[in-house]
Amino acid sequence: MKFSIFVLALFAVSATAVPHTKVKRAAVNQGALDLIAHLEGFRANFYTDSVGDTAIGYGHDCEANQDCSSIHAPITEAQGKELLAQDIRTFETCVCDMDNAADLNANEYGALVSFAYNSGCGGVDTYWSTAMSEKNFEGICEALPHTNTLNGELDSRRAQEGAFCSKPSNATSGC
Ligand SMILES: *[C@@H]1O[C@H](CO)[C@@H](O)[C@H](O)[C@H]1NC(C)=O
Repeated sequence: MKFSIFVLALFAVSATAVPHTKVKRAAVNQGALDLIAHLEGFRANFYTDSVGDTAIGYGHDCEANQDCSSIHAPITEAQGKELLAQDIRTFETCVCDMDNAADLNANEYGALVSFAYNSGCGGVDTYWSTAMSEKNFEGICEALPHTNTLNGELDSRRAQEGAFCSKPSNATSGC
């Protein structure tokens, strides 16, 4: 499930207010891409998503991207993952833009990008900017299962994000 229109609007406002100077972005690792894909679920054909938009693959939004006339359904899971990798770029950028993001390990980073894809860039800021400025990455992983769960509706998603976040990795985010 994608972030709400409300959060998107918040992000759009802050995105225009903040000057875009050299914001880095790093691609998430394969484990994180697979996690997000698994959480979104795959549809080979066009369908109507929870906000009434036409979508395909792992939640690729046709209205937002205006590119579905060039997509020939049914698509394969590999094609779906390519679209997903493009769709999460905005969220890789906003997580990389947070304080100390370069010090996240690759799994902590991937979990936060998954959270951002679901809760919006405004959501990541709201819930995690304090912990990021304190470099409390362990605290983020521990709190993830209980954060912005929509009264339990997203418990399973958050539990999986929290578990991925806590999985040791010697690789850094790349931010
Ligand atoms: C990280 O590096 C240490 C030391 O080289 C190694 O023992 C450990 O297995 C590595 N952990 C992971 C998750 O790769």
